[in-house]
Amino acid sequence: MSLIEELARIEKDARGALLGAADEAALEDWRVAFLGRRRGRLTDALAALPTLDIAERRTVGAESNRIKNELEAALEQRRAEIRERTHKSGDQPIDVTLPGRPLPAGRLHPITQTLNEILEAFRQMGFQVAEGPEIEWDYYNFEMLRIPKYHPARDMWDTLWMDYERDGERPMLLRTHTSPNQIRIMEQTEPPIRVVVPGRCYRYEATDATHEWMMTQVEGLAVDEGISLAEFKGTLYEFARRLFGKDRKVRFRCDYFPFVEPGADVSVDCFLCDGKGCRVCGDGWIEIMGAGMVHREILENMGYDADRYTGFAFGMGVERVALNRHNVEDIRLFYQNDLRFLRQF
Ligand code: PHE
Repeated sequence: MSLIEELARIEKDARGALLGAADEAALEDWRVAFLGRRRGRLTDALAALPTLDIAERRTVGAESNRIKNELEAALEQRRAEIRERTHKSGDQPIDVTLPGRPLPAGRLHPITQTLNEILEAFRQMGFQVAEGPEIEWDYYNFEMLRIPKYHPARDMWDTLWMDYERDGERPMLLRTHTSPNQIRIMEQTEPPIRVVVPGRCYRYEATDATHEWMMTQVEGLAVDEGISLAEFKGTLYEFARRLFGKDRKVRFRCDYFPFVEPGADVSVDCFLCDGKGCRVCGDGWIEIMGAGMVHREILENMGYDADRYTGFAFGMGVERVALNRHNVEDIRLFYQNDLRFLRQF
């Protein structure tokens, strides 16, 4: 075996052995075995150098230098790797006083937060929570709520109809309010009823600071013996006090909805102008719900004894409540998904 071949063999052995060295002591043993000045294999091999002729001596010398330099570099690299690894595996002491890295934490959307607060307030007053479909039948959304076809009361809701026909008519729609759930619930239950029904509603209308084409409502329905206008107002006053604090003014005003009699719109004084009137509220009040005493005819349609049972219902706009609670000046901000806005809640 020529000297050049032997050097190649040594290099190969050295590189293989280096991979097996796993700590500082093993690295030192390796260094002594291969690169050691007195007993190292490289040094030993070169002992034969003086027996070669000049030309050969030059090539072998250059090759042995290259090998020595590269093996030294490989040793340093291996040393760094081992340090890195032992550090990570906890062999080195860990500084437990370093501050932790915060994980990005999500949170509930402001409308979901407000919705939860509303539901909790009613839950504490003895109401159950139920849900109904967002795609609704004309029958529940209008017909059974005393809004027959071709009746002008339909104009109160700008409806998004589903592209689905039956008998030449389009009986399916995106619900315009959560009131169809009054019917769905009364169909399935007997009084006493105390229930709130949250859900999204859709209207084909232009948006402005207090209107969106999609909104969240909470329908409320209470049917029992002896429910009068006093219970109706008392419950909603109590609700407003819980959500807005006792200093907020609440206004009940007569309004018309075909499924209640009498009907009311319930407003709170505007957070922005303190009731003086402004761009957001117009006249100083922000309507947060339509409401009223359940129409006698509906109770009778449901097979209830309308002389014995009475009730009230309301449909509250969750975005309107959130607007007032958090002093947000434009309802459309809630659905623009701008994190600079959403992070403030
Ligand atoms: N559903 C009505 C609306 O969306 C509100 C309402 C609910 C009115 C219940 C009276 C009773 O405008």
